[in-house]
Amino acid sequence: MLRKYLIPAIFTLSIGILFFGIVERSSGMDNPEPALDSFRLINDFVDENEACFKCHGEQKFQLPNEEDGRVLTRNMCPDYIFPREDYYSGNHKSFMCYDCHSAEYDNFPHPLEPRLEEPWACLDCHGYDEDYAQYNFEKIEEEYLQSVHHLATEEFSCWKCHPHSYHISIRNTENLKATIAYDNAICLSCHADFNQFQLLTDREEINIMQTHDWLPNETLHFQNVRCIECHTKINEDILVAHLVQPKEKAVRLCSKCHSSNSILMHTLYKFQSREARGEYGFINAVVMNEAYVIGANRNKYLNMISVILFGLTFLGLLAHISFRIIKKV
Ligand code: HEC
Ligand code: HEC
Ligand code: HEC
Ligand code: HEC
Ligand code: HEC
Ligand code: HEC
Ligand code: HEC
Repeated sequence: MLRKYLIPAIFTLSIGILFFGIVERSSGMDNPEPALDSFRLINDFVDENEACFKCHGEQKFQLPNEEDGRVLTRNMCPDYIFPREDYYSGNHKSFMCYDCHSAEYDNFPHPLEPRLEEPWACLDCHGYDEDYAQYNFEKIEEEYLQSVHHLATEEFSCWKCHPHSYHISIRNTENLKATIAYDNAICLSCHADFNQFQLLTDREEINIMQTHDWLPNETLHFQNVRCIECHTKINEDILVAHLVQPKEKAVRLCSKCHSSNSILMHTLYKFQSREARGEYGFINAVVMNEAYVIGANRNKYLNMISVILFGLTFLGLLAHISFRIIKKV
């Protein structure tokens, strides 16, 4: 009885869900407007940007043949596709493409001249500007100029790690793991993708998992620390150190992190520990923050507490033994 109705009912329901799913999707595809509307809230030039996104935001693009009215469809080069959501959640979400790119890109194929133009540098807009003083762009550039990447090739620039989709993360982080993954993805965009890597060097491919196989449980480490923890020089003046050093200078000693004066207090947990010091006072901040790192919670204050506990137990034992001796006598 139950089976007689239940099975057809489930069947009809599934078909229904499938059907509505397809209708929903195809209506979404015909009409990208609702998504664009949400971008209009953060950018006044959404329609102007569509002149570029109609190719750079899609897997394919169309070329009208004016002679005979045909429309040719072509694949977009994958490396030149930028999802709109990424662009409109980046730091420069309020920008027009033309703010940084020449209007000559209106033509297709794109002419040579704009390609050869020197791109803007971050400091052209952010350097020596009080509004951005908290980031200390000047210091960051100073460090970058000494990094392995700049020393290796002039082709490298801040944009290689801070492309259109870049948005500040560690400064506002509510989820440290997500920030670690975000920051590591920046490095891995080349160090796990030889196509990108070889654009900038003649070196052989480096297998990151292999070169780090001395780390026990590599995956766990890469989820809990950033590449820059081990590869940059500590600098207290900026939140994110930018001096990437040659591999010989990378952190290898376990105790650099797994100890009471962990370097992570000066790198990964720097912002939280600063904030926490403001909010809860120094001692609490130290105790709280060090609890993040295994092995590191053997800190002064906890040590003191354990000494006191040990002392009390010892005294208790002593009292007990004395009583027994006194009673016997
Ligand atoms: C008809 C499709 C189409 C449109 C519209 C389009 N592009 Fe492109 N763009 C491409 C393709 C395909 C490439 C890669 C091939 C090439 O470099 O010519 C490209 C490459 C580029 C490059 C890389 C050039 C280089 O040599 O490094 C830039 C920058 C660029 N486009 C910017 C823009 C901007 C800005 C707009 C909007 C004003 C725009 N494009 C509109 C298709 C398009
Ligand atoms: C804040 C400045 C800025 C804005 C805004 C901007 N770009 Fe770019 N874009 C650059 C720079 C600088 C480069 C060169 C990056 C490099 O050298 O690695 C670049 C590179 C590109 C490339 C070449 C691909 C690549 O990775 O080198 C394309 C395509 C492109 N931009 C398209 C766009 C489109 C489309 C928009 C608007 C939706 C846009 N850009 C908005 C600064 C900007
Ligand atoms: C053409 C000028 C220009 C260039 C080039 C430029 N920026 Fe910006 N940037 C701006 C402006 C203007 C804003 C503020 C945008 C807004 O509020 O919508 C901004 C915002 C930011 C922010 C967020 C600031 C905040 O407090 O919200 C960061 C971080 C940033 N840019 C980093 C960079 C980096 C890194 C580079 C180089 C890779 C760069 N910018 C290149 C003009 C520029
Ligand atoms: C090798 C990669 C790399 C290069 C090159 C690079 N950065 Fe960064 N940068 C990062 C990473 C990773 C972060 C951390 C992002 C986050 O979590 O907010 C960062 C963060 C920043 C921040 C935000 C810091 C804060 O206090 O919140 C600024 C500003 C910045 N970079 C500017 C620059 C400038 C300017 C250059 C070039 C002179 C540059 N970066 C070159 C990787 C790089
Ligand atoms: C745009 C591509 C790109 C990105 C992004 C990038 N790198 Fe690199 N990196 C390279 C290239 C190319 C080299 C080799 C330079 C050379 O020696 O020719 C290199 C070299 C290095 C070296 C030096 C290795 C040695 O032999 O001494 C270290 C360490 C390094 N990168 C770490 C990082 C870290 C950490 C990040 C992220 C913060 C990062 N890289 C982001 C391309 C990149
Ligand atoms: C716990 C510290 C630590 C972390 C985290 C770490 N590295 Fe390393 N890395 C090292 C050490 C130490 C070496 C030197 C290994 C050697 O010489 O054999 C090294 C070597 C390298 C090299 C040079 C390899 C070669 O053979 O030339 C690159 C590139 C590199 N790391 C990139 C990264 C990237 C990208 C990440 C993040 C995904 C990362 N590292 C995370 C410590 C670390
Ligand atoms: C750059 C800092 C750093 C370095 C260097 C480092 N670690 Fe770690 N390690 C961490 C962090 C952070 C975690 C994750 C802690 C957690 O799970 O709360 C971790 C986790 C571990 C774990 C896993 C603990 C568990 O919960 O399963 C082991 C084991 C470990 N590390 C051993 C080592 C050894 C051995 C070395 C040296 C070869 C080393 N680590 C070097 C930061 C580091």
